[in-house]
Amino acid sequence: MVTVQRAQLERLARRSIDVIARGQAPTGAYLASPNFPVYRYSWFRDGAFIADAMSRAGEVASAEAFFGWCAGILEARRDRIEALIERRRAGATIDTDEFLHARYTLDGQETGEEWTDFQLDGYGAWLWALDEHRRRHGRPIEPFVAGAALSAAYVAAFRDHPSYDWWEENPDYRHTSTLAAIFAGLRAAASWPELSADLRSTASQGAAELAELVRADATRRGRLPKWLGGDAVDASLIAVATPFGMVAPDDPITIATIEAIEADLVNAGGVHRYALDTYYGGGEWLLLAALLGWHYASVGRTDDALRQLHWVAAHATTDGDLPEQVDDHLLAPERQAEWLKRWGPVATPLLWSHAMYLTLALELGVVQAPVEPVTETPLEPVTEAPATPAR
Ligand code: BGC
Repeated sequence: MVTVQRAQLERLARRSIDVIARGQAPTGAYLASPNFPVYRYSWFRDGAFIADAMSRAGEVASAEAFFGWCAGILEARRDRIEALIERRRAGATIDTDEFLHARYTLDGQETGEEWTDFQLDGYGAWLWALDEHRRRHGRPIEPFVAGAALSAAYVAAFRDHPSYDWWEENPDYRHTSTLAAIFAGLRAAASWPELSADLRSTASQGAAELAELVRADATRRGRLPKWLGGDAVDASLIAVATPFGMVAPDDPITIATIEAIEADLVNAGGVHRYALDTYYGGGEWLLLAALLGWHYASVGRTDDALRQLHWVAAHATTDGDLPEQVDDHLLAPERQAEWLKRWGPVATPLLWSHAMYLTLALELGVVQAPVEPVTETPLEPVTEAPATPAR
């Protein structure tokens, strides 16, 4: 096992708050990565996990600024969202490019660039993060409620519609981890007295239907598949149990899924996204290593969880930045060079990696909330993205 000194583990958690704060715009948006041109935008998915980590660490204002950014994006698109839901009810065909986007500029606009933008999970995930925040800190959700209601109605209407997955691929399938994010968002919305009784009941029914759909499909082979009807494994499936709770962490279906992920996608701590990954040669993702650790912590496998924390910390740069992925064990080494040429070195720091590390460090008691951030130099203002090279 890779080991890192306790003081370093703690410092990296405290520094993660600083990295995230530096990557947050005054509008509340979190840049996915400040140094990687293609990621100088804010994603609902990454942001939901980042806001949740900041909320856990006691950074209430940061998390709420992000929730405000999300709510503003939804409210600004109210007419479009209501029209989409209406067309869905009427059975109309909707083109992929008519749906809400997965990522936006810091001031909440579409990027104007080609991207695999139709992803539903983020519109559920931020509701989950908002609910966790509300329960943790007893904070009112009124400022976000109008946007949150639109998000809940949107994911309820399209809950079983195919969309791009967490990795922005495979648009023709219904992805289990996407369904789980929608489930968690709907379950949260169903519990909010601030929403109308109608919407709460739609949300509650939608969540129950999704849970049934996923369980019925998983029962065919005893574990969760990457997409409904398929067989492949994907590390994003960890989230179906931890943190989204669509299947209990100790359910036999979860146990079999984690075993399949361990067998196919884990190398001594590092976690691949899926077996056929070729992006940057298919490295091991730090956020997934920490997510697996979080799951281990939630089922009492503390030593395994600690191993994951050490593994992530051991892959920090000398400056204490956490990359998106590392290339110790590439799945497709012959595909690494083309990505380096196209987009430059792997995104570093990736805010989502820092968020998941911080969450795991808090879960394991390496740091306690409120976490005192390490601030090395004054914060530079976050700026808008330059034009992105084509994918
Ligand atoms: C990942 C997405 C992520 C985005 C920004 C992509 O490469 O596949 O899951 O949202 O990067 O971090």
